[in-house]
Amino acid sequence: MLNKIFDTHAHYDDEAFDTDRDILIRSLKESGIINVVNVGASIESCKKTIEVVRQYDFFYGALGVHPSDTAPLTEEDMKWLHDELLNDKMVAVGEIGLDYYWDEPSRDIQKKWFVRQLELAREVNKPVIIHSRDAAADTLDIMKAEKCHEIGGVIHCFSYSKEMAREYLDMGFYIGIGGVVTFNNAKKVKEVAEYVPLESIVLETDCPYLAPVPNRGKRNSSINLPYVVDEISRIKGIEPDEVINQTYNNALRLYRI
Ligand code: NI
Repeated sequence: MLNKIFDTHAHYDDEAFDTDRDILIRSLKESGIINVVNVGASIESCKKTIEVVRQYDFFYGALGVHPSDTAPLTEEDMKWLHDELLNDKMVAVGEIGLDYYWDEPSRDIQKKWFVRQLELAREVNKPVIIHSRDAAADTLDIMKAEKCHEIGGVIHCFSYSKEMAREYLDMGFYIGIGGVVTFNNAKKVKEVAEYVPLESIVLETDCPYLAPVPNRGKRNSSINLPYVVDEISRIKGIEPDEVINQTYNNALRLYRI
């Protein structure tokens, strides 16, 4: 049986795909990758996301600005994002959030635009894709204050504890799991994959980044997702087909497709 896999988080606009983007994307269905959400991370990559989504009928898009790219943002950008998000093929606001691994932009700037983009999601009535790195407490505080259980969405590339996963599950959020779960040293992510019910997990690559074992360190693409499926099925003691089917349905529910 051919797989039916949904990659809920990819960056095919990235320059890492400049040499073979079209050939690669056209080959995805042969590998059982039947839907992809291309995720914006800056205004520039949102523009490219719009192009990619226009070009491939099985692609959807998410538009939003990653915390590391928030410094130059203006209200005009919010207006532009708002208008583009009204397109039916744009299924989420993201990726947005907080990233304290880097010192710039300042935490105040990151928080300001995180809150503003949560408001944007409310305005257009779409779920959010959250990026949160080394910022667990502030992310949770803001999401509770902004009543994110009313907005819904996914915590992408989840890297925190299972106690923290519980908080997001209680908010009705999905947990995005990708290549990191296959890494030998990713004990915490494996624990989270075991703990979180399959009904709340979605598959993601974050490609070109975070390729799973045995391709760790190479350019990632959706074609590698079966390695993630196999690891989740091993951890949970269930068949790979069950992981594929359930996460596919989860993705449709998450993005309201
Ligand atoms: Ni990403």
